[in-house]
Amino acid sequence: MKFSNRIMSMETSPVRKLIPYANGAKAKGKKVYHLNIGQPDIKTPELFFEAVKNFSGDILTYSPSNGIPELIDAMIQYYKNYDIDFSKDEVLIMNGGSEALLFTLMTLLDKGDEIVVPEPFYANYNSMFQVLEINVVPISTKIEDGFHLPSKAEIEKVITPKTKVLLISNPANPTGVTYTKEELDVLAAVAKEKDLFIISDEVYREFVYDGLEYESFASKAKADVKDRVIIIDSVSKRYSACGARIGAVLSKNKDFMAQLYKLCQARLSVPELEQIGSAALYKTPQSYLEEVNEEYKKRRDIVFDALNNMEGVVCRKPEGAFYYIVKLPVDNSEKFVIWLLEEFDIDGETLMMAPAEGFYATPGRGVNEVRIAYALKAEDLIKSMKILEEALKQYPGRVL
Ligand SMILES: Cc1ncc(COP(=O)(O)O)c(C=O)c1O
Repeated sequence: MKFSNRIMSMETSPVRKLIPYANGAKAKGKKVYHLNIGQPDIKTPELFFEAVKNFSGDILTYSPSNGIPELIDAMIQYYKNYDIDFSKDEVLIMNGGSEALLFTLMTLLDKGDEIVVPEPFYANYNSMFQVLEINVVPISTKIEDGFHLPSKAEIEKVITPKTKVLLISNPANPTGVTYTKEELDVLAAVAKEKDLFIISDEVYREFVYDGLEYESFASKAKADVKDRVIIIDSVSKRYSACGARIGAVLSKNKDFMAQLYKLCQARLSVPELEQIGSAALYKTPQSYLEEVNEEYKKRRDIVFDALNNMEGVVCRKPEGAFYYIVKLPVDNSEKFVIWLLEEFDIDGETLMMAPAEGFYATPGRGVNEVRIAYALKAEDLIKSMKILEEALKQYPGRVL
């Protein structure tokens, strides 16, 4: 018996790869701070649970393949508040942003086609590219530039006749970069000139700091590329509802939506109760999102101040999302994280981060970098940073 080449070519998620080491540390009685994963510890609004409790049906049926009307309407209204108009047939509800991405890639790309993505990028993109046998072509970005995009000419250099799609995460996991309007203009111009689709993964839309202006690729300012644009959305981060598994694809390209809908029908439906709960989430007052934004900004600043005081550590303050890519003075960040879990603790406590190599497509990049998620509460972040500072002093593979 043999597994498919497709699945054998797929790598383990860098975020989860070292979990056995974390479990080993826990089995020895250590407390592990999980800075490796973007699982927010913010309370999910009560509205979700109330709506689920109030469900009065007596059968859990297959819901419509495109999603329940209440949730579609709630999302349309949410976008209206951003001055973005979507109609009912321009929204498909998905099992999280993850399914939204997977189905979108399946709809747009064949085996051997190329997708262009700024690197480092969300590691699950890689899993999807591998399983769909899509070739990823990175646009290299650097910590020193805050992971902003290079010039239009540099971007154009990586486009080939096989390129079909530009994919961005904005604000970005894992870098925290929030692209400027000018950068989005450049991507739009490239997409038009080279006849490409744009997938804009905007699941962190609310997480933009310092009063920075944020532009969605669905905004009216980008009307000239509206038929090329596909928005990936999710309630996971917005409402701290990762377990609801509710997301969406939104696009004004009706032909694309019609093709994508075939996949939605093939998987029948998205769980109904979670859709009911998520529709209610969209009634959450704006003040909730503002408070959460403030909280994350505070967490970002705690981590930034701490990292800035550590010798040999290089990072830039992220503009959005809740992640840092950080260069560490270590020989190899995976070895360092394993050492942290196996050999190091302060008063029985240690931390876990995601080695950054898995967020890059270019071999050799990210070897001495980690991704830090600041989704934990302030006091845990303060402790984690103390552990990291001391660990970097004691690690036998320290360089510099
Ligand atoms: C950039 C990005 N896109 C999509 C997702 C998928 O989110 P979900 O499937 O929970 O909606 C994540 C989750 O971490 C993410 O970071």
